[in-house]
Formats: sequence, structure tokens, C-alpha cells
Amino acid sequence: MSKWTIDLPDTVVVSGAASGLGLEISRQLLECEVDVVGVDLGAPELDSHDGYQHVQGSVNTPETWEKVRTALDLSRSLGYVGSAAVLKVGTLLDEDLSIWRDSWEVNVLGNVLALRTLLPVMVEAPQASVVAVSSIDADFGEQQLAAYASSKAAISAAMRTLALDYARTGVQFNVLAPGPMRAGLFERHLASADNPKKFLATREARQPRGRITGVDEVARAALFLLSPASSALLGTTVTADGGLTTGFDFRTGAEGSSA
Ligand SMILES: NC(=O)c1ccc[n+]([C@@H]2O[C@H](COP(=O)([O-])OP(=O)(O)OC[C@H]3O[C@@H](n4cnc5c(N)ncnc54)[C@H](O)[C@@H]3O)[C@@H](O)[C@H]2O)c1
Repeated sequence: MSKWTIDLPDTVVVSGAASGLGLEISRQLLECEVDVVGVDLGAPELDSHDGYQHVQGSVNTPETWEKVRTALDLSRSLGYVGSAAVLKVGTLLDEDLSIWRDSWEVNVLGNVLALRTLLPVMVEAPQASVVAVSSIDADFGEQQLAAYASSKAAISAAMRTLALDYARTGVQFNVLAPGPMRAGLFERHLASADNPKKFLATREARQPRGRITGVDEVARAALFLLSPASSALLGTTVTADGGLTTGFDFRTGAEGSSA
């Protein structure tokens, strides 16, 4: 196979860098010799790597983003990936209102605060790109996830408008919408199911390829969106769900057939 190389920003700020997709994106960026500033409530996973700095704190606290800004070299191209999120399972009449507050505080406001701090740096940078990690749940209902799904719809909608507001500054805004991945949120959702084994088998069977998409595969889509190689994309959503939402009722035919 031939090789294609893409440019990447000199530095990328990744929220949620201590686990799952954020961790994998950080790892792939470091492999490409991109400097990473990771932000997470959790302790760093990659602090042994040259080029990795960790800011431990909450994304919904402005002080966290002030610390991130002081860690940046303002003359370099800059990317931002907002991967930190919380997912809490519940139904409206049974769940505590804190589920809604936390979902919106972290999944929406966490990105808004990040961008209010980083955008002034990005508009001055030689190249800048924003990738907000949303979810297929922004557009599709999923039982017991109303708070989470609505927060993802909100961040997707915000990114579309920000893309237009800042299009002429050169900052590229796009959204990455994963489907199920074997990472933290999925694993915890799985663990909360009455029958996790059955839940997983059902989830695998409904994927067109019969498997849950790898976190590494989704992370590569994030790298593309960070790159000027994706400059034709602005304010769009790249759905990285292994085809889950491409159609419906895949498995009605013979085993292995989509007929
Ligand atoms: N796992 C899936 O199947 C799936 C599917 C669709 C979308 N997504 C999205 O992908 C992204 C990553 O999901 P994941 O499964 O890798 O999750 P994960 O739980 O493995 O990682 C999320 C990280 O965010 C951090 N975090 C949570 N709240 C924070 C806060 N207030 N401040 C700072 N950090 C905080 C956590 O500590 C954790 O390290 C999320 O945006 C999620 O909505 C995941």
C-alpha cells in the first residue's frame, strides 16, 4: 500500500486525556511527535513521554484552562480536542437532577470554557483546529441517556455556529461523533446493564461489521480533523460508528447478510 502523510498542529490540547478516546488520541499524537497538553480530573497516564504535559483539574473550572494557557507556546500551531465527558444512566422521573447538571456542565460548558480561553490564542496561531467529541446520541435517541444525548446535541450545534462565526480567522471547527467504542463510557454503561454479557452481544450484533469499533480507529479520525488535510471540512460532523447509523435493521436477513 502507498503511504499518505498529513501535517498536524505542533501542539494539541486534549481534554479527557487520562482515559479512553482522549488517552488514545494523545498517544497517537505523541507518536507523531506532536506536543500534547492533557487535561483531566484523573492523574496522567502518559507523563513518561517527552512532549506530554498534564493539567489535572475539571474542564468546567476556568482556572484549569488558565493553567493550560500558561503551558502553551503561543507562536505554534494549535489544536484542541474536547473528549472529556460524563455519561450517567437514568430516566427522567427516577434520576437525580444532578445527572442533568453534570452532563451539561462537563459535556457542554467544559468545551465552552476551553474555547473561551484557547480561541484568542488560536486566532493568532499559524494554524488551528478544534475537534469536539460528540456522539451519535446527538442525533439518535438511546434509552436512559436523555441528559447525555441532549448535552451532545448541544455541543454539536454550538460547534456548527462557532465554525461559521470564526471561519475567517482560519480556525477550523469540526465535530467527531463516535458510536460505541470499548472505552470508559461504554464500559461503564455495559457494567450498569442487567445482563452485561447479553448487552454486549446485542451491541456487537447490531454493528454492520459485527464488532464494536476500536478506539484506535476513532482516534485516527480525530487526527485527520486536527490536520489541515481536512480543510474542506468546516462545521461538519464526522460520524465514526462503523456504520451503525448508516441504515437500520441490518440483521433481518440471513446471518452475515444485510438483505
Ligand atoms: N465510549 C463510547 O462508546 C463513546 C461513544 C460515543 C461517544 N463517546 C464520547 O467519546 C469521548 C470519550 O469517551 P470515553 O468512553 O473514552 O470516556 P472515558 O470515561 O474513558 O474518558 C473520559 C475522561 O474524561 C474525564 N473527565 C470526566 N469529567 C471530567 C471533568 N469534569 N474534567 C476533566 N476531565 C473529566 C474522565 O476522568 C476520563 O478520563 C466522550 O466525549 C464520549 O461522550 C464515547
